[in-house]
Amino acid sequence: MKGRITKGIAALTACVGLATVMAAQTGKTTRDGVYTESQAQQGHDLYVSQCLTCHQANLEGKEQNPPLAGSDFTTKWAGLTMNYLFTQILTTMPATKPRSLTPEHVTELIAYILSANKYPAGKTPLPQTLEGLKAIQIATPQP
Ligand code: HEC
Repeated sequence: MKGRITKGIAALTACVGLATVMAAQTGKTTRDGVYTESQAQQGHDLYVSQCLTCHQANLEGKEQNPPLAGSDFTTKWAGLTMNYLFTQILTTMPATKPRSLTPEHVTELIAYILSANKYPAGKTPLPQTLEGLKAIQIATPQP
């Protein structure tokens, strides 16, 4: 009798453990509306003043400046979580003046890049913390 109860508890514990692991794996992706329209609008203005000269108005890139929209860009980043893109922009861009952007500005720029890549806007703003950004995976856009 005692043995059975112990086994029951063990099975239950295993179940809870598995559910936790699954919740971590089924976090959000960029298809789930992970930024707001207003962030993207702010990001657009920043993009025009600080990024457009190199990455071009349509985010197509030019010469050594890589594209920030389109399948080359999304294929490269798909599967990674947003903290990687955030850190890359925060520490290396704009190329002429790296580390001059605030975390808030970087999230706004990412929101604009997401909108240009046709990921939908939503009601929740894109977070500014690495923890929050780690929970969002970059998806290939829907065809
Ligand atoms: C002076 C030109 C220049 C400016 C201005 C500039 N970039 Fe860049 N950007 C580059 C170059 C060159 C690279 C490639 C760097 C490398 O591969 O090491 C790059 C790479 C990137 C990447 C990585 C792309 C990828 O797929 O690897 C992102 C994202 C990016 N830039 C965003 C921005 C944003 C946002 C701004 C505006 C705040 C900006 N850049 C301003 C020249 C520029």
